[in-house]
Amino acid sequence: MTSIQQDRYPVYDQLRSNTPVLAEPSATSLRTYTTWHLTRYDDCLTALRDPRFVHEERKYLAPEVCEEPGENISSLTSSQRNWMLFKDPPDHTRLRSLVQRAFTPKIVQNLQPRMEHITTMLLDEMEAQTEVDLVQAYAFPLPVMIIATLLGVPMQDREQFRAWSNILFQSLDFLVSDTTWEQASQAVDALRAYLRDIVHERVKQPQDDLISGMVRARDEHGKLSEDELLDNCILMLAAGHETTVNLIANGVYLLLREPEALVQLQRDWTLLPSAVEEILRYESPIQVTTRFVSEDVQLGDVTLKKGDYVSPWLGAANRDPAKFTEPDRFDITRDPNRHLAFGQGIHFCLGAPLARLEGQVAIKAYFQRFPKSTFVGDQAWAFKPSVLTRSLAHLKLKVAP
Ligand code: HEM
Repeated sequence: MTSIQQDRYPVYDQLRSNTPVLAEPSATSLRTYTTWHLTRYDDCLTALRDPRFVHEERKYLAPEVCEEPGENISSLTSSQRNWMLFKDPPDHTRLRSLVQRAFTPKIVQNLQPRMEHITTMLLDEMEAQTEVDLVQAYAFPLPVMIIATLLGVPMQDREQFRAWSNILFQSLDFLVSDTTWEQASQAVDALRAYLRDIVHERVKQPQDDLISGMVRARDEHGKLSEDELLDNCILMLAAGHETTVNLIANGVYLLLREPEALVQLQRDWTLLPSAVEEILRYESPIQVTTRFVSEDVQLGDVTLKKGDYVSPWLGAANRDPAKFTEPDRFDITRDPNRHLAFGQGIHFCLGAPLARLEGQVAIKAYFQRFPKSTFVGDQAWAFKPSVLTRSLAHLKLKVAP
């Protein structure tokens, strides 16, 4: 039986055709509001670009409907409140420009040899086996090693770092359990302490890494508190790990499902950048995001009220026939391909250049090493029951060269 997680696109199509701005009555213990689900490309774009859609609802709501008096704020929530992802201007502008200054195209480009080294190492390990789970053996380890390198985390701590990262990302999904929330808060505490030590070392002895760059940006160019610095490093880990895992795994999965596209790519590797864009559009790693409605907004014939939320479904926007010709066709030469997989507007993914490069390096290296790899049986893959992401739980492949 096909569940919505295995094939969500017919559901998106139905919503887009019948109720493209769908009202979901919602409530906390303190107030009621509507969450509006958007599935048309243009509406999603509006929600991402129009400054009336914001993050910091506490600036717009009376304090008594935001938090219960005396409510204990978890470490995860207090960290998230410093994440640029959940900030509006002017704080967003300040945080983003300081991190961006340290996260230059040169830093990204310089990581390519390291990416190639890691992929070679992982592929060597896989070569010793006949069957592998590509998610565990390949897609998962690479991005965390790259973020660890980027931040300057020592090699011997990488396994611990990877475990924290895993817990943290799970906490971003909507359907999280209390246990996950609590574990994520513990991971945040541990990460803050861990990263604080690295920051102090970098203050004394700067290196060629992102934390040193952020310390420099803080000291030379503007105000950035130590907590903001640490919490935005935590954001990088949360935002940049599993998303990129999904890009790599979804890419290998799609190319194996579409053998003609794979042959086309193997004949002409200059198509690699546009193939990666099509993978991002077709199976977008992040399927949905949210914004708070800071004043009444008219969207077509629907009025969204101040105090409501919107959920722009990026995965649905990326299959909108009003924007993409034959949206359900996987076409690695698609041009133009203005997908929303990295968002749009002021929060456009800061890590997009890094993720694109990782995707390109990993997918090319895999198919060059295992050009004839195939699925193992008819249970070779399954998607996770996630609302937020399009993530393969496993992808079992025969890798004999
Ligand atoms: C923001 C997707 C990889 C860091 C975003 C947003 C999306 C996204 C959709 C915007 C969310 C919104 O507007 O609500 C992705 C995907 C990735 C990826 C699909 C991989 C394929 C990365 C990597 C990093 C990163 C590798 C860093 C190492 C960030 C940061 C933001 C962000 C810092 C917040 C930017 C801001 O608020 O100004 N990402 N991301 N992402 N991403 Fe990524």
